[in-house]
Amino acid sequence: MLSEKAVVEINQIKSMYHDAQSSLLPALYVVQREHGWLSPDAVEAVGDLLNVPKAAVKGVSTFYSMFRHKPMGRHLIQLCTNVACMIMGAERLVDILKSRYGLEPNNTTSDGRFSLVIMECIGACGTAPAMLVDTDFHDNLTEENIVEILEKYK
Ligand code: FES
Repeated sequence: MLSEKAVVEINQIKSMYHDAQSSLLPALYVVQREHGWLSPDAVEAVGDLLNVPKAAVKGVSTFYSMFRHKPMGRHLIQLCTNVACMIMGAERLVDILKSRYGLEPNNTTSDGRFSLVIMECIGACGTAPAMLVDTDFHDNLTEENIVEILEKYK
């Protein structure tokens, strides 16, 4: 369920707030960072640890799109294909991810290395195309540098 390290970190977070419910978001983030997603068991364990009702934990975890509820690859690529990025070649980048890694939108590579989600806009239209890999931001993507960048994520 929760690792010993996660329990320690969540208890530290809990001690920083007046009420346990306020520590819910960072606690869920700790679990997602460790496992890549929030399993139903993990959501329940966070609620038990914080003494927050299961329904409240589930409500928060499903409200925010940053939380994932199905297994993902070790690294999540969030690639923008909205207008500015599309004009600057984002669709071609999607093709490269497919041909190089066999990776399609809303899927995970067979080796579990990458998952790909297409984003609407990540606020980097001036330096499009852009993507996030986990929490790392990358812009001015080209057909060449996207592979160079992704090869750093094993
Ligand atoms: S359209 Fe891609 S970052 Fe805005």
